[in-house]
Amino acid sequence: MKDTPTAAALYDFFMRGLDMLLAKKWRRELWSRVEGPAVLEAGAGTGLNIPFYKPEFEVTLLDSNRSYLDLARERACANQLEVKLVIGDIQNMAFSAGSFDTAATTFLFCQLDSPVQGLQELYRVLRPGGQLLLLEHVRTSGLFGHLVAAMAHPLYRLTGSRMAREMESYVKKIGFVDLTSTAVFTNGVRIIEARK
Ligand SMILES: C[S@@+](CC[C@H](N)C(=O)[O-])C[C@H]1O[C@@H](n2cnc3c(N)ncnc32)[C@H](O)[C@@H]1O
Repeated sequence: MKDTPTAAALYDFFMRGLDMLLAKKWRRELWSRVEGPAVLEAGAGTGLNIPFYKPEFEVTLLDSNRSYLDLARERACANQLEVKLVIGDIQNMAFSAGSFDTAATTFLFCQLDSPVQGLQELYRVLRPGGQLLLLEHVRTSGLFGHLVAAMAHPLYRLTGSRMAREMESYVKKIGFVDLTSTAVFTNGVRIIEARK
């Protein structure tokens, strides 16, 4: 994704439309499960999850694009929330091990070159027993899975997104435990929760 104010504004406009149609209730469900208080939201984008933060959370928003975080800052101000904004790559974060109680992402992993490395880093920065929460597209069988598979190449060319990743198996492989995976849209969009 391009790091320009126009790209960030377009993303925000498009995503607010999708939120109104579908995704708002998925975001609400994910954030109702967040325990905190020290929360990392990685790949936070323009801050579309900010309205769902509880006031007692101390949230750090990490994103690789400054222009996206600029909009997130405005959204945090509009919601009268103090947050910490960090520009960085989830695959190689500067936070110390065990810094967070919860690490959450929404629609991030389709963007990463190495989802496994991203998950390894989330594992590292969580405290022992800490909570992982992901709202992500995953690889699935069935009609939706076949549709996504058929569109995978053009979608990748258009958006740089890889929609069908085996997130649950990566999460297990890294060593997270107590994994639950809840379908929120067909079987292809899921909330995945696990513990370090
Ligand atoms: C599809 S957007 C999702 C944004 C937000 N989570 C949401 O739900 O609207 C993906 C976000 O991940 C960010 N991103 C992509 N690669 C990243 C990386 N390696 N590390 C951190 N953020 C990244 C992009 O800049 C973008 O803001």
